[in-house]
Amino acid sequence: MLLTWDDRSCNVGGDGLEGCVQNGPRTMDYSVVMNFDSAFRGKRVLVTGHTGFKGSWLTSWLLLMGAEVCGVALDPPTEPSMFAILGLEKRCRHHVLDIRNSSGLSKIVSDFAPDYLFHLAAQAIVSRSYADPVDTISTNVVGTANVLEALRPLTKRCVAVMITSDKCYENVEWVWGYRESDALGGKDIYSASKAAAEAVIHAYHHSYFSDAEGPIRLARARAGNVIGGGDWAADRIVADCMRAWNRNDTVAIRCPRATRPWQHVLEPLGGYLALAVALSKRPELQGEAFNFGPLAEQNRTVNELLTTISSQWGFISPDQAFRVVEDRPFSESHLLKLNCDKARHMLGWHAKWDYSDCVRELVAWYKAFYQGDQDMVEITRAQINAYCA
Ligand SMILES: NC(=O)c1ccc[n+]([C@@H]2O[C@H](COP(=O)([O-])OP(=O)(O)OC[C@H]3O[C@@H](n4cnc5c(N)ncnc54)[C@H](O)[C@@H]3O)[C@@H](O)[C@H]2O)c1
Repeated sequence: MLLTWDDRSCNVGGDGLEGCVQNGPRTMDYSVVMNFDSAFRGKRVLVTGHTGFKGSWLTSWLLLMGAEVCGVALDPPTEPSMFAILGLEKRCRHHVLDIRNSSGLSKIVSDFAPDYLFHLAAQAIVSRSYADPVDTISTNVVGTANVLEALRPLTKRCVAVMITSDKCYENVEWVWGYRESDALGGKDIYSASKAAAEAVIHAYHHSYFSDAEGPIRLARARAGNVIGGGDWAADRIVADCMRAWNRNDTVAIRCPRATRPWQHVLEPLGGYLALAVALSKRPELQGEAFNFGPLAEQNRTVNELLTTISSQWGFISPDQAFRVVEDRPFSESHLLKLNCDKARHMLGWHAKWDYSDCVRELVAWYKAFYQGDQDMVEITRAQINAYCA
């Protein structure tokens, strides 16, 4: 189906909202919008962390669905960055602001008066949390509290999806998938910061937002390790490989036997969108937490993942692509699986792409980027449409 994409061009820079220019509609394949029943069309959607990996994909998806997106984040955390590659600064209301700046954040939220809010901004790198624990804790815990504080005075209905992580669970290294009712915890700083953010959201829910008929509806979303085109974050295994393989280098890997619920970035983002739509209609979901992960049989070790990706990248043998080093600089949990029955039964959500779909789309995106002459906005749009189809 061919529909029009309302591509608002808003180059605001800094904190201002001035300078929005209507560029006029573009014609494109718009089948993507059907999955959410046009729920986001014409809606005001605030995304924190829109300059990051997941935030750039979510912003792109929301724009495709005709939402007006306002983003709050620091500058893109990587170079290259998906945010810059897709020109998102000119396609949304772009605010560069530290979420620990409570008054600045509250002003943006109250001025924009969002219909939906997705909170993704975080210090999301495990290795960095070891190097600077206080910065990680203040961003992930106090920053989350500031987002909730900014919501409190709103009088108009706003549906907020607060994104934490699968690492918020107390990892007891068992073979079963974690359920939403399992204990939270975290032995490393990043995991603990996400568990603490969960506790803060839970407390705000009970203290200020327990009335689901009130203006604020909120829920928590926990997803696992996501992969996909456009991630260049430090110390993330796929990003490290893409950087190195583009230079014809091999990659040193730690924890080759670590098992993760790898999933394409569009999977949890689809879950967040589905949760937001359901939450807007169903007050009984107020304050609930949901896992969004791949099917259990799609868990793979780091070694298996890199073997598949390196083969699709064009390496004849994995030895040419990566080597295992034993001296891990810090400890990370070994086995982490999510049980996603709740999302399936209460939201009708389930992972759609299998492992091979996920890897194929990931490699295709990076190959197109490194080719240098591809339209990455179109490629990103096509992947979102393929996912929705
Ligand atoms: N990528 C994953 O595998 C994964 C897995 C589970 C959960 N998550 C969570 O999903 C969210 C997004 O992750 P990502 O992979 O896109 O991370 P990312 O590092 O690519 O992006 C982080 C975003 O947060 C912003 N940010 C960081 N500190 C900030 C601050 N003090 N003030 C304002 N903005 C700040 C950055 O500017 C960026 O926009 C995070 O909450 C992360 O913890 C990610």
